[in-house]
Amino acid sequence: MRADLLCPTDTTLLEVLQLFNANTMGIAFVTDAEGRLKGIVSDGDVRRWLIDGTDLKVQVGQLMSSSYTFAHESKDTAEILNMTNERIRFIPIVDDDEKVVDFVQYDTRFRLPVASPNLKGNEFNYLVEAFLSTWISSTGAYINEFEEKFSAYCGQEYGIATSNGTVALHLALVTLGIKEGDEVIVPDLTFAATINAVLYCNATPVIVDVERESWCIDPEEIKKAITPKTRAIIPVHIYGQPCDMDPIMSIAREYSLWVVEDCAEAHGAKYKGKVVGSFGHINCYSFYGNKVITTGEGGMCVTNDQELDRKMRVYRDHGMSKDKRYWHEVIGFNYRMTNLQAAIGVAQLERINDIHAFRSDIETTYKEKLGDIAALEFQSGSIEHREKIIWLVCALTSAENRDAIMAQLNEKGIDCRPFFYPLSDMPIYKEYTFSNQVSVEVSARGLNFPTSETVKDQTIDIIRSVFTES
Ligand SMILES: Cc1ncc(COP(=O)(O)O)c(C=O)c1O
Repeated sequence: MRADLLCPTDTTLLEVLQLFNANTMGIAFVTDAEGRLKGIVSDGDVRRWLIDGTDLKVQVGQLMSSSYTFAHESKDTAEILNMTNERIRFIPIVDDDEKVVDFVQYDTRFRLPVASPNLKGNEFNYLVEAFLSTWISSTGAYINEFEEKFSAYCGQEYGIATSNGTVALHLALVTLGIKEGDEVIVPDLTFAATINAVLYCNATPVIVDVERESWCIDPEEIKKAITPKTRAIIPVHIYGQPCDMDPIMSIAREYSLWVVEDCAEAHGAKYKGKVVGSFGHINCYSFYGNKVITTGEGGMCVTNDQELDRKMRVYRDHGMSKDKRYWHEVIGFNYRMTNLQAAIGVAQLERINDIHAFRSDIETTYKEKLGDIAALEFQSGSIEHREKIIWLVCALTSAENRDAIMAQLNEKGIDCRPFFYPLSDMPIYKEYTFSNQVSVEVSARGLNFPTSETVKDQTIDIIRSVFTES
């Protein structure tokens, strides 16, 4: 329990005000000499006493009301939350000895996001350092460091940092020469950036179905969708789950296709002990704010191919020759990352193992608390050869109930996300559909639970109550 929310009955009003100032909550739980709860004092109470002319030296125990709302720790969190309202904004929770062990807070502005970045390491220090160095644009020591360290993390020789994950995909496809008339196979269940990158090249996407267990692109469907125009495959390691890379790479070899892994949601996931992003010819990451590690906005292409690395650097930088300044070899882009973003990325990468461990613990807690709910099927974590990472905790529920459940959670301030719509469902992409049976089912049933630092056991208890009561 936070000490700055507790004060003994002999605390003066002045000291109570100082406590409010320190805890920034405008509330304190008043205790006796043994630490037992005796009352609650709010900033409104103190204001009223002072208006009535009470001296700042008066002790709070002499003024506070003997009637207040509290709850025993054995009470269900959802029930305690229901006791809160605009007037009763804080409810202390006590143990058998009447000692305050926690509290529940009512706040209409409070929303628990699905994801929020953890920036508690060296992020701020490195960012300030980059800022003070005045290298705030796309040249600077942190860019090189981030490219070197992140590509090494992916087991690849070269890393080309970009301004976001979408342009990383575009950069990869352009560099591989994907153009009008070419077909590129993509999964139906993915974020739109995957297919958009193909369309930016004026190439034709071919949308194929996913595997039932992994929700990742189905190699059997890839094979069926190949035509003489097929040039590339983009396997997406969806929601942290690795694709079945062996058959995908063997199809690619058989038909001489490029493979561009979309690893935007799977930093550090492994297939047969090898990290994703180390199988394809060029592999792309996103470092958007909700990703496993973030640079705010940002992305990276990684590769083992020196020539592809050279070409990507040229395309990334307006198509400008690396040997002759202001000489443009190709029509390029400005897809560069800034040194400020890279500074955050370096700090994030230092803690990637801790971030994974934390996310994995959250998933374990969800499974412990919700695992017995028959209507919920958590993302598989036991597919042979595949070591998923937790990006967002995922589960399938019944398609009939999903949206109503999300709406109820939303009302309680818990942001729960539906899975991506199948690409094949959307009018702008529909015409590119090859197969979509499983993806349609999975998409309609899938939801992402909050997976940020702010998730507490209480939150999961509330989620549980919504599932069990609906
Ligand atoms: C699978 C997938 N690919 C690509 C992207 C695009 O990344 P960004 O948002 O950094 O452009 C995202 C996420 O945003 C994604 O989830």
